[in-house]
Amino acid sequence: MDTNKRPDSMQRITTPELANAFIDEQVAAVRAQVGDKKVLLALSGGVDSSVVAALLIKAIGKQLVCVHVNHGLMRKGESEQVIEVFQNQLDANLIYIDATDRFLDLLKDVAEPEKKRKIIGGEFIKVFDEEASKLEGISFLAQGTIYPDILESDGVKAHHNVGGLPEDMQFELVEPVKLLYKDEVRVVGKALGLPASMVDRQPFPGPGLGVRCLGAITRDRLHALREADAILREEFENAGLNKTVWQYFIAVPDMKSVGVKDSKRYEGWPAIIRAVNTTDAMSATIEEIPYALLHKITARITAEVEGINRVLYDLTPKPVGTIEWE
Ligand code: XMP
Repeated sequence: MDTNKRPDSMQRITTPELANAFIDEQVAAVRAQVGDKKVLLALSGGVDSSVVAALLIKAIGKQLVCVHVNHGLMRKGESEQVIEVFQNQLDANLIYIDATDRFLDLLKDVAEPEKKRKIIGGEFIKVFDEEASKLEGISFLAQGTIYPDILESDGVKAHHNVGGLPEDMQFELVEPVKLLYKDEVRVVGKALGLPASMVDRQPFPGPGLGVRCLGAITRDRLHALREADAILREEFENAGLNKTVWQYFIAVPDMKSVGVKDSKRYEGWPAIIRAVNTTDAMSATIEEIPYALLHKITARITAEVEGINRVLYDLTPKPVGTIEWE
């Protein structure tokens, strides 16, 4: 069998029973492949790498070494959740690296979107590589490759693989979910006991908030963006919209407008809400958010987030607008 091709006969994993059977099969396969050797995994906290981590912890426990690189561009609470779930709950061998300063220093004054992406992707590989070279006795590299990644690997999304690793790394690969589609990975993740907030997470670009803090990133505007984004997520969850909207986030441009706060002139940035529905991210429609909710989100963001004085709703479908602003 060509192991990069999903056989048409393969059953789709839609139930916990099927997921458990898949897990048992993969646990045995990973044990057979790895033996008593060590495996390294870049754990971003996204769905795919989290499910691979949980599966490998079940298969080989402490022989798995997870490395979580916080590039300082995560959403609020995400690195904390990785530590809580994998270190505290699953007792994983987890190395946490806070590389925020390295990334933000390199990104200082860089406004061009593709240049920002290159810096973030390149630095990620560097940090991971440095950490990997400190470890002894690693023989395998685990990756959260899923089936669509294989289908798209020479297509439009090549630039998306920020989590991608150095090509010259001399490790044999362990890719236990590479024949699964995203929704199957989620079913497997749930069967492995991962929290819904991790398994049902919306797509999040590798460069993270870096492509939503538009133009040259500054720490104060990045902080405002992260806080405003956390409010948006909280309000969407309270309204149940997290179950129906495919992707939603805030972007904050590098411009200020005049406003009034506490009866005083207040110059601030606008927070732009984006909430889109799509099946394949190639085209997208705009979610019709109830006006009352938009008012509530606006009131909260402008009252609670330092530096923001307006909230805008982006009504542009894709095409013409891409989902991300950069
Ligand atoms: P666009 O903006 O191209 O986004 O309409 C389509 C989907 O891809 C995500 N996206 C990225 N994902 N690295 C990623 O890993 C990137 O550089 C990147 N840019 C866009 C975007 O969030 C949306 O889901």
